[in-house]
Amino acid sequence: MNYHILTLFPQMVMDGLNTSIIGRASEKGLISIEAIDIRDYSEDKHRHVDDYPYGGGAGMVMQPMPICRAYEDLCSRLGRRPRVIYTTPQGKVFNQNIARELSGEEDLVFLCGHYEGVDERALELIATDYLSIGDYVLTGGELPAMVMIDCISRLVPGVLTNQESGEEESFHDNLLEYPQYTRPEEFQGKKVPAVLLSGHHQKIRQWRRQESIRRTLERRPDLLEKAVLDKKEKQYLDQLIREQKQQSEQNTDEGGFVSNEDYRCKG
Ligand code: ADE
Repeated sequence: MNYHILTLFPQMVMDGLNTSIIGRASEKGLISIEAIDIRDYSEDKHRHVDDYPYGGGAGMVMQPMPICRAYEDLCSRLGRRPRVIYTTPQGKVFNQNIARELSGEEDLVFLCGHYEGVDERALELIATDYLSIGDYVLTGGELPAMVMIDCISRLVPGVLTNQESGEEESFHDNLLEYPQYTRPEEFQGKKVPAVLLSGHHQKIRQWRRQESIRRTLERRPDLLEKAVLDKKEKQYLDQLIREQKQQSEQNTDEGGFVSNEDYRCKG
């Protein structure tokens, strides 16, 4: 996988992507990352790449010419026209399925916007995908590009070692990952669940699946609609839902008790 990032801040993306697992994957040649400085394609001796918006309004708009020249130069180097992902809060929200699809490409271009955005004509000419990393606004597209590159690269064969690669990580089967524990066996009065110390692999597998289901119901019930569950697991989920209902009815009877959890992140 070869990433080509069109940006006004090449140092920022290169610094952010040269550490840890992604840095190791680049060193091994499993992925390559290049930042293309859009300013290098400015036609102006002061290297300007932005101008005032036609029609007025606040901020500056990135001009189409330097962006399109940078992309065309890349295409002549590669001998093909790779997909161009424009990172924007107006895009489709990135997720694990999109990451999986993109991980099959040989080359990917990320166009990182700044200021008030990019001249629409540049987008019409070169952008193939509009992707957001969530419903909030950042100062530029570099962090979203880095987030997506990190996520996509994990899926490129060989990037994760066997130990790192998670068959059972979050979003596998549309479930969240089960809780993990390491030494010590007891920490501040909290014990590691006994089943994990039992050495009974079948029971451990079952406990982990059940915890995944419980956690998904508590934190991301929206995922359960598409979760892949067998008959016994569906029964377990139904039982959890019944318990949840009973609990909330009991709380209402007790005068609307609200737990700590309910105060957090009300966004
Ligand atoms: N640029 C600014 N905010 C963004 C977001 N949430 N996702 C993708 N690109 C962005």
